[in-house]
Amino acid sequence: MTEQRINPSILSADFVNLQAELERIATADLVHVDVMDNHFVPNLTMGPPVVERIQAVSPIPLDVHLMISDADRWAPGYAELGASSVTFHAEATEDPVALARRLREIGARAGIALKPGTEPEPYLELLPEFDQVLVMTVEPGFGGQSFMHDMMPKLRRFAEAKAADGLDVWLQVDGGISVDTIGIAAEAGADTFVAGSAVYGGVPEDRIAELRAAAARH
Ligand code: DX5
Ligand code: ZN
Repeated sequence: MTEQRINPSILSADFVNLQAELERIATADLVHVDVMDNHFVPNLTMGPPVVERIQAVSPIPLDVHLMISDADRWAPGYAELGASSVTFHAEATEDPVALARRLREIGARAGIALKPGTEPEPYLELLPEFDQVLVMTVEPGFGGQSFMHDMMPKLRRFAEAKAADGLDVWLQVDGGISVDTIGIAAEAGADTFVAGSAVYGGVPEDRIAELRAAAARH
């Protein structure tokens, strides 16, 4: 079976107790860190100084999701501070391939994210340039929204391109992932699942185990 990853999003964590909140998800694969600039999305979270501290204390590697404009300028800094993966938005870069190469050069996994309205072309053909693709299953900006089932055809397109070329790129989904929706995304080809409210809405360790079990059933 394909290796599957559960990446809890700390957007749903208690921001005043981040270190304790990170410890609560130590059984997950990577911690998903949502960086928002109040420009690319209508919400504001954190920037490099806070992410650097998260990197210093987190028991698991960082999966940084940049919902910021001008990714070309800012993304390399997150790779430099040690994030395991850095995902920027296709809509926020002038040159996705050059940026992905730069991130890989620094030593991070390079990820590209697509908003719900963004078509998979031309990114399908650029898959070898990326270590992960993030198909957004909500409009980026906020946790707690409903899973967009109509993103599954897009996810399938990436899964088909990945299989056709025998690539080991991770296919990630983010937004509205719960025990009820994770199987649908897994069935469509996702292997990496971001979940914020579903994890922190209960006992994180239990929720992570439940999500793993639900994903593995498909
Ligand atoms: C939304 C963020 C997500 C968010 C997901 O823009 O990118 O990572 O935390 O939250 P849930 O799992 O609650 O939909
Ligand atoms: Zn995210």
